[in-house]
Amino acid sequence: MGTKPSLSIALLFLALPSLEGKPRLRSPWLVSRSRRWFLGFLIGPIVVSPPAGYAGFTCDATVFPKEAEYDYIIVGGGTAGCPLAATLSESHRILVLERGGAPGEFPSLAGQDGFLRTLVDTDARDSPAQPFTSDEGVPNARGRVLGGSSAINAGFYSRAHPSFFDGGGAGGTVAAWNMGLVNESYEWVERAVAFRPVLRGWQAAVRDGLLEAGVTPYNGFTVEHVVGTKIGAATFDSHGRRHSAADLLRFANPTNIKVAVRATVHRILLNPVLPGSSGRWRPKEQVTAAGVVYRDGLGRHHRAKTRPGGEVILSAGALGSPQLLLLSGIGPRRYLSAWGIPVALHHPSVGRHMYDNPRNSISFIPAVPVDNSLIQVVGIPGADASFVEAASNIVPFHSPAPPVFLHQSASPLFVTVATLIEKVPGPASEGSLRLASLDARDNPLVRFNYFSRPEDLARCVAGVRRLGDVLHSRSMKEFRAGARGRAGRRGTRFVGPALPANMSDDAAVAAFCRRTVSTLWHYHGGCASGKVVDADFRVTGAAALRVVDGSTFRVSPGTNPQATVMMMGRYVGLKMLQERRNRWPHA
Ligand SMILES: Cc1cc2nc3c(=O)[nH]c(=O)nc-3n(C[C@H](O)[C@H](O)[C@H](O)COP(=O)(O)OP(=O)(O)OC[C@H]3O[C@@H](n4cnc5c(N)ncnc54)[C@H](O)[C@@H]3O)c2cc1C
Ligand SMILES: *[C@@H]1O[C@H](CO)[C@@H](O)[C@H](O)[C@H]1NC(C)=O
Ligand SMILES: *[C@@H]1O[C@H](CO)[C@@H](O)[C@H](O)[C@H]1NC(C)=O
Repeated sequence: MGTKPSLSIALLFLALPSLEGKPRLRSPWLVSRSRRWFLGFLIGPIVVSPPAGYAGFTCDATVFPKEAEYDYIIVGGGTAGCPLAATLSESHRILVLERGGAPGEFPSLAGQDGFLRTLVDTDARDSPAQPFTSDEGVPNARGRVLGGSSAINAGFYSRAHPSFFDGGGAGGTVAAWNMGLVNESYEWVERAVAFRPVLRGWQAAVRDGLLEAGVTPYNGFTVEHVVGTKIGAATFDSHGRRHSAADLLRFANPTNIKVAVRATVHRILLNPVLPGSSGRWRPKEQVTAAGVVYRDGLGRHHRAKTRPGGEVILSAGALGSPQLLLLSGIGPRRYLSAWGIPVALHHPSVGRHMYDNPRNSISFIPAVPVDNSLIQVVGIPGADASFVEAASNIVPFHSPAPPVFLHQSASPLFVTVATLIEKVPGPASEGSLRLASLDARDNPLVRFNYFSRPEDLARCVAGVRRLGDVLHSRSMKEFRAGARGRAGRRGTRFVGPALPANMSDDAAVAAFCRRTVSTLWHYHGGCASGKVVDADFRVTGAAALRVVDGSTFRVSPGTNPQATVMMMGRYVGLKMLQERRNRWPHA
C-alpha cells in the first residue's frame, strides 16, 4: 500500500478502488465467509427471514417448468427490473429472471454495517456482489441478487438533476419524459424505500465544512437535486436496515407474477420479421423477441416464451444488458462474427458509450471517534461541478508489531477512517464493453477511458481543490488534527494518498486525479439511449424487445443514480400499461 505498508488497513474507500496500490484485505473477520445454503432442492417458495413481501411468489429456478408462457419476461430482478415487474403485474402475467439469490439469504445485506463486508466477501459465481476490474485496473462491483445493485449499494437516495430530462441535450436519455408521471413514479418509489437519515458528528461536520467552502445555500433535507449543500435520503431506515428495489415487489399483484432466483438468462430467442407478417410491423424491424433461454442452479435449461402482444425486457444492468444483446446476436456484425455468434441484427452501438464517473478521495484517521456512516450529505457546487460526499468506516487492521510480541490475535485492532469524496458528473469520457467469453455468467470486459476528455480532468482538479477546502475548514478542525495535536494538513494522518502538497499547481493536482482515480460504482451505458434504444426504450430494429435500466443512460443522473433507475422502472411500466390499453382498448 504505497507509502505505509505497515498499516494493512481494510477500508472501503481506499482499499477497493485506488489505483495507487492494490491493498488486499486480510482481516480475519472480513474473510470469514457466511456459508450460504443452496436452495436448489427446495420445492416451493423460499423462506426469507424476515418474510419479505415477495416471498410468496419468489422461487428457485429449479422448480420452474421447462417451458412456459408469459406476457412480459423481465431479465434481471434489479434496481429497474423490480419496480417495472411490480407495475406490469397489475394486469399482465410477468416472469422475472434473476441470476442471484434472494437478499434474505445474505446476512450482510440486511443493514448498513454489512456494506464493506458484502464488497469484500465475494466469489466467482454466488456472492451478491460480483467483482470486476476495468481495463484501467480500477476494482469495481455489480449486484447479483434480487434487488440488484440497490441491494448491495451505499444507500444514498437522490433524484436526478432537472436537465437529465431534457432529452438529447444535457439529458441522459432521448425519452420525451412526462414530468408529472416522473414525479408520481419517484413518489411511488419513495413510499417504500427512502428514509430521512440521522446525521451524527462526522456527517454534520462535512455539511458545515461544505458551507464554509462556499457550497451554498444550505437546502436541508431534500430528495431534489439542487445546487448547494443538502442532506439526501437513504434506503437505510432509522434502524439501519436496508431497503432495496426488491421491496418494491411488494406492490406487485401476487397472482400475476413469478420471480425466479438463480435463473441466469443465456440468450434471447429472436425470430426474423417477415414484411407483412403482422399488422403492426414497422418497416425498420428485422427481428422480434419471442422469449429467452435460462439456466437454473443445476445447469438445466428452461425456455420462457412471450404470449401474443408480449415482450422481453432487459433490466440486467450496464454490464448485463449489452452483454446479453451481444450473446443473442444483436451487435456489431464483424465483432459478433469474430466470436462465431450468428448475427441476428447488426447494431453497431451495442457495448459502445460506456461511462464511469471518476471518483477521487482522501482518507484519514480522525482525531476524535466517529460512527460508521455511508453517504448522507452531498455538496452540489454548480450545474457542471464535481459533487462532494463523505463516508466514515470503522475498519480493522493488523498490528504492525510482528507476532513475536503478540499472539496471532483473534481480535484485530479497530480504527476509524474518515473519507472525503469527489465525483465528476457526466462524465464526458467514454469507453466500451466487450465479451470475455460466451458464458453469460462471466463478467464482460469494460474500459472506461477515465479522463480521456479534458473537461473531466478539469472538473476533477476543481473537485480535489474543494476537498482541500472542506478538509481545512473550521468545522473539520477537531477531526483532521494529527496525533500530537498539530492542526492542519501536516498533522492529518492520511491513509493512502495525501492531497498534493501544492494545491495551486494544476499539473500536480491533475496527476493526483489520474493516479488515484477510482469508482463510485455509477457506471452506465452500453445500450445508450438514442443509439441502441429509442425514446420508448425499445431496441431499434427489434420488435417486442426493450432495455430498461442504467445501461441506457448517457450521463449519471443527479449525484447518485439509484433513485432515477427505480423511478424509470415504475415510469416505463406505467407507460407500457397505457400503451397497451390504447392498442387494445377492450382487452
Ligand atoms: C457498491 C455500490 C455502491 C453504490 N452506491 C450507490 C448509492 O449510494 N446511491 C446510488 O444512488 N447509487 C449507488 N450505486 C449505483 C446504483 O446502485 C446502480 O447504478 C443501480 O443500482 C443500477 O441499476 P440497474 O437496474 O441498471 O442494474 P442492477 O441493479 O445491477 O440490476 C441488474 C440485475 O440483473 C441481474 N442480471 C444480470 N445479468 C443477468 C442474466 N444474464 N440473467 C439474469 N439476471 C441477470 C443482476 O444479477 C442484477 O440483479 C452503487 C452501486 C454499487 C455497486
Ligand atoms: C415535478 O417535481 C419537481 C420537483 O418537486 C417540480 O419542480 C416540478 O414542477 C414537478 N413537475 C410536475 C409536472 O409536476
Ligand atoms: C505552487 O504552484 C504554483 C503554480 O504552479 C507555483 O507558482 C508556486 O510557486 C508553487 N508553490 C510552491 C511553494 O512550490
